[in-house]
Amino acid sequence: MTIALIVLAAGQGTRMNSDLPKVLHQIGAAPLVAHALAAGRSLEPERVVVVTGHGAEQVGKAVAKIDPEAQIVLQEEQLGTGHAVQQALPALEGFAGRVLVLYGDTPFIRPETLEGLAESTADVTVLGFEAADPGRYGRLVAKGAALERIVEFKDATEDERKITLCNSGVIACDAALLADLVNGLRNENASGEYYLTDIIEAARAIGKSAEVVTCDEAETLGINTRAELAQAEALFQSRMRAEAMENGVTMIDPSTVYFALDTYIGRDVVIGPNVVFGPAVTIESSARIEAFCHLEGCHISRGATIGPFARLRPGAELSEDVHIGNFVEVKNAILGEGVKVGHLTYLGDADIGEHTNIGAGTVTCNYDGVFKHRTTIGANAFIGSDTMLVAPVTVGAGALTASGSVITEDVPPEAVALGRAKQVNKPGLAKKLFDKLRAEKARRMKKDQ
Ligand code: UD1
Ligand code: CA
Repeated sequence: MTIALIVLAAGQGTRMNSDLPKVLHQIGAAPLVAHALAAGRSLEPERVVVVTGHGAEQVGKAVAKIDPEAQIVLQEEQLGTGHAVQQALPALEGFAGRVLVLYGDTPFIRPETLEGLAESTADVTVLGFEAADPGRYGRLVAKGAALERIVEFKDATEDERKITLCNSGVIACDAALLADLVNGLRNENASGEYYLTDIIEAARAIGKSAEVVTCDEAETLGINTRAELAQAEALFQSRMRAEAMENGVTMIDPSTVYFALDTYIGRDVVIGPNVVFGPAVTIESSARIEAFCHLEGCHISRGATIGPFARLRPGAELSEDVHIGNFVEVKNAILGEGVKVGHLTYLGDADIGEHTNIGAGTVTCNYDGVFKHRTTIGANAFIGSDTMLVAPVTVGAGALTASGSVITEDVPPEAVALGRAKQVNKPGLAKKLFDKLRAEKARRMKKDQ
């Protein structure tokens, strides 16, 4: 089945009380519109069109990042959902197949639900749900699965308002038919808007079939306020936790682990309490993430152990069996197999060879105030505690840096580098000093009496 996707994202979202366009507010560290696009993308659509309006420039930029192949169109004035779809039609020129219309602010529609809609054989299919509180949703006037029309709350009669089967907003329709129907819409209704929902009655009038497919109300949850955003985040997190556990991940206290939309975690990974995953984290099987870690943009290979209290930032690439201990920060650095970084360390812009040991308090001094520079360390090296590696600098394989060294020059393989002042011992001087200080203290106390 050839599919095209239209994502409506032109609305203002006044109730968010925000300078940020509604669809760019985030859950799971990803904009709402990214969630809708991800669900739609799972159907492998031939074309994706996003309709922007409020904050079009910002939304367009964000969409281009999330989905570089999406076509972005502008709806200059928000004259209704039907008008929004009309703006997308030119981008569908020459497309023959089924068009799915989604909202950019409803992040929970499951791919399976969209598949069901796409596979429905009716000419127009609408995703409906039984609402616990139908409120101001559009009502579906249907006989069984056969849909007669959709009536907006504002335009509904008392009797129609009693209907609890509501419109989610998601619609599937043959492309050519959709274009005909949408171009024929009028705005003579309570809102003065071009309602997409009116295409049902119009389709029926020309002898086309219309059907309802239903889903759980939770899937159709739209976000209009900050409170709903927070609820959506909670719902998203509980789904991700459940999914992770189903996929064989152990979490000691799941309710304290936070996922991003694209977090990938392999089987038999163990995650301690209070762990946060930002965007783009992938973890291979059998790794361990101890309590209080923050990870984003990183890859962790099989059997690695991280934390407690570690921070992995974008570009951290950890090979198998790497050990990262407490208060370690890693950014844009590739760590070879079995590398150990036990405590209190910053590794930024670095390449670390296999089985190298990084002592406590090591810092890659990667930034000179203007440019970033790389630190390269060979395999089986030993970096003594409190080594400052002033980049760009290379430490050869099997080399050792003495504790407290400031390494400003390359270290040859298997060499020892001593980059600190030579130690001098003054016999008896400490005692002499303390005797003098204690005598002074006794003198002052006597004076105060
Ligand atoms: C719409 C439906 C209603 C349904 C409800 C579900 C219509 C006429 N009504 O109502 O039946 O129960 O959604 O939430 O379709 N948008 C644009 N351009 C516009 C107007 C809207 O892009 O000119 C986008 C919005 O950004 C939003 C979506 O379309 O993502 C829905 O718009 P909204 O104003 O929330 O529609 P409702 O009045 O809630
Ligand atoms: Ca709405």
